[in-house]
Amino acid sequence: MERATPTGAKCGAGYTFAPMQTRVAASRLAGLSLILIGCGGGGSSGGAPHSGSAGSPGSSGTAGMAGGTPLAGSSGGSGMATQGGSGGSGGAPVAGTGGDGGHAGAGAGGAIGGLGGMSGSAGANSAGAASGASGTSGASGTSGASGTAGAGGLVYSGPGCSVPVRENDEPMLLSQTGCVDPTDPTKAASTLVPYDVNSPLWSDGAAKERYLSLPTGTKIHVKDCSAEPDTCKSVDDGGTAEDEGHWDLPVGTTLVKVFLLAGARIETRLLMRVTDTQWRGYSYEWNEAGTDATLLPDQKDKVFGAQTWHYPSRSQCLACHTEGAGRSLGPTTAQMNRDYTYAGGSMNQLDKFEALGAFDHVPPRIAPYPSPSGNADVDARARSYLHANCAICHRPGATVSDMDLRFETPFADMALCNQVITANEDDLTLPRMRLVPGDPTNSSLSYRMHASTGQRMPKLGSNVVDADGTALIDQWITSITSCP
Ligand code: HEC
Ligand code: HEC
Repeated sequence: MERATPTGAKCGAGYTFAPMQTRVAASRLAGLSLILIGCGGGGSSGGAPHSGSAGSPGSSGTAGMAGGTPLAGSSGGSGMATQGGSGGSGGAPVAGTGGDGGHAGAGAGGAIGGLGGMSGSAGANSAGAASGASGTSGASGTSGASGTAGAGGLVYSGPGCSVPVRENDEPMLLSQTGCVDPTDPTKAASTLVPYDVNSPLWSDGAAKERYLSLPTGTKIHVKDCSAEPDTCKSVDDGGTAEDEGHWDLPVGTTLVKVFLLAGARIETRLLMRVTDTQWRGYSYEWNEAGTDATLLPDQKDKVFGAQTWHYPSRSQCLACHTEGAGRSLGPTTAQMNRDYTYAGGSMNQLDKFEALGAFDHVPPRIAPYPSPSGNADVDARARSYLHANCAICHRPGATVSDMDLRFETPFADMALCNQVITANEDDLTLPRMRLVPGDPTNSSLSYRMHASTGQRMPKLGSNVVDADGTALIDQWITSITSCP
């Protein structure tokens, strides 16, 4: 099952888990481009008699590389490939002997329950060995033929920080992504640039760190309506969806966000532009010792003290990182126009990126969004909050396109004031209007932010009501005296 590829990387079950070396070597050969290394290929590699690879490709559809040899125990790779969708590979009867512990673990998850890779995420060598032995369902695997999107093993290979090399043979640990210092994963890799935003997403009270990894030699383009009016036409007229000042990040850019509760790292998210049109997001769950984080195959809820933390699935990433908002959300001039305390001292972030030579042309300055917790007037702060937290879905071209909560949109054009709701409009227990001047209680906008289940907004990823945020929006609604 071990097949050499044109770049020398190995495919299928025989792929030994030394992705950094393999990946770096491949990337040297291939530069920054997408390379086809001939793995996968519609699942043809799944065919070992006992391999029992995923019967169904699961949500990722990339089970093409599944399967594997009866001996290697690394057929667990297909467990990962199914992303918990359909139960991964059966693992081999004598599994767990390979050095590929992480993948064996993943596969074992599928073998045991047929319920998905979640349980495999432990990925420990021992887990692989133990459950590999129980992977008797190997024989019942129908072969990797069902892996549809092996698609010739489309692989992104970039130097430095990147998301998993390929969907079905993923590095399990954050320390293997190139985004962190492998000897101390709590530190970002030295090539990453840290940044902060003026108006953050409410993340259930978690503290956050953010970093940007720009591939060597590439430049950020910032959408500039005066220099390139065509891009600012409506999408129907050939323009691009995102706003003026949006940073168009080059292919190969990886963004990193770290979440901390009570000072402890709990999650790291990686979001990468893998092609011109394709972005991928992944969540890594930190271990309790805080020494490393493991790639999650699917969404997960975990209790921390009084709160339940939600680790989003890969598709949930893109449900907030909408195409209409430009996929990457924070890096826009109005969000980035602020000071940051770098190792060498404090500096405006726009100046910093300029000094790094990161832009293809110096972007025009745009006034910073006011901090929702700052001193600006209530209207500006509320609009800033709605922009960052809600307009990613509530804007033209996104999920609910008839409501426009962007900062720059005039109040009269937001489709809020005395506008009847469109979702569950027959439910008489709900506020009828999106916003009633002076009356937060009867405004859906406020009601939904106060809700803890069901009607809760933001729609995804948050379980804890934002006390400051709801107070700000209520204060704003109260201050509005009439509709325009
Ligand atoms: C509830 C909506 C939501 C979900 C779900 C979500 N994000 Fe985000 N994310 C945001 C917003 C809004 C920002 C920008 C504001 C900020 O950084 O606080 C952001 C910022 C980021 C950043 C920093 C770069 C950027 O685009 O601003 C990364 C990296 C990131 N998210 C990764 C992910 C990944 C990976 C997932 C899925 C595992 C995910 N996010 C799920 C809303 C979301
Ligand atoms: C991940 C995308 C997403 C985010 C982020 C989001 N929403 Fe929504 N919102 C939706 C969807 C989808 C609906 C319609 C379905 C439903 O009612 O749940 C909706 C419906 C609503 C409605 C009812 C509109 C109507 O006409 O019935 C309001 C009001 C609303 N959202 C407010 C907010 C506010 C305020 C925020 C930010 C705190 C927010 N949303 C963030 C996706 C989102």
